[in-house]
Amino acid sequence: MYSVTATTTPLRLSATGISKTVCVGSLYVLAGGHHYSTLQSIRVRYSPVSLSSTTSKRSLSSASPKSAIKEFFPRVETKQIIEAESAWKHPVYTEEQMRSIRTEHRKARTWSDRFALAMVQGLRWGMDFVTGYRHPPKGDVKDPKAVTKFTMTERQWLNRVLFLESVAGVPGMVAGMLRHLRSLRTMRRDNGWIETLLEEAYNERMHLLTFMKIAEPGLFMRLMVLGAQGVYFNGLFISYLISPRTCHRFVGYLEEEAVLTYTRVIQEIEAGNLPEWEKMEAPEIAVKYWQMPEGHRSMLDLMLYVRADEAKHREVNHTLGNLNQKEDPNPYTAVFRDSKKPRPSKGGDLMKPTGWEREEVI
Ligand SMILES: [Fe+2]
Ligand SMILES: [Fe+2]
Repeated sequence: MYSVTATTTPLRLSATGISKTVCVGSLYVLAGGHHYSTLQSIRVRYSPVSLSSTTSKRSLSSASPKSAIKEFFPRVETKQIIEAESAWKHPVYTEEQMRSIRTEHRKARTWSDRFALAMVQGLRWGMDFVTGYRHPPKGDVKDPKAVTKFTMTERQWLNRVLFLESVAGVPGMVAGMLRHLRSLRTMRRDNGWIETLLEEAYNERMHLLTFMKIAEPGLFMRLMVLGAQGVYFNGLFISYLISPRTCHRFVGYLEEEAVLTYTRVIQEIEAGNLPEWEKMEAPEIAVKYWQMPEGHRSMLDLMLYVRADEAKHREVNHTLGNLNQKEDPNPYTAVFRDSKKPRPSKGGDLMKPTGWEREEVI
């Protein structure tokens, strides 16, 4: 395990970095998917490297000062308050745990599973058809040519992940909210689900805030996010009332796609196709949230952390999709009789990509 020695010195960079307004000509459309088109232009203010930040007061990172970034929407401080703290502390991942994550697929076994998978695939196919965009082969792509063919710039990736993360925080909040209301309405216990679901939504929002520190979406992107949230929230709200099990499976499949997306980002950085990110360090908000240790605070490290989170969401939602929605306790908050057996955990120590089966945990 790593230890964190970061101080809490506020980040105060001069705003003279290479802040650009760029027309990236791309649009990331599908939540959890991997689609971008040339149909629309999105203006993103993106400030990859602040050359003048060599005199920055930043002390959070051991990285070279030249790699510091200009952060958008700096932390708000008042006369008496330094910052707001969260009750949800992120578990610490080790490098080995993060590196061991693989893209995986849970086979659809029931009609509910097939419907959830078809929804994800249908959305993907529709956007692929409209945009003419094709993916590199699925899975861990070893052939560098296959990756290079679909190479995107840092800004294009940011557009994709910004949109992805802006909608990724919706399902956990909808599910948590509905289970909360059901508990109040029926005057029955929830058995520990709400906390995990809301924490997932919080975690996804932290992904968004982290990427928002690097790039500031323009008006068009904001409108897209607004529209997508309206459709996605209401769609999930109705769907979760009808079949929560199918919704968890749907999110599980979306998270499979998210793991794939971040795996490709990681491969791209490692292949040297995203040179600006090679020089850049993760924003302060990320360093603190994931407790990123000294020497492991690059953009590559950040992507490893985010991918590990997505892998955990994949596991959690597939597991919840295996359970009796009304009666079963949440295995991620449960105290087990036999503590010697491997059990679901919040951290990266035990990842089960296709989820825990009901008979293993209930
Ligand atoms: Fe995310
Ligand atoms: Fe996720």
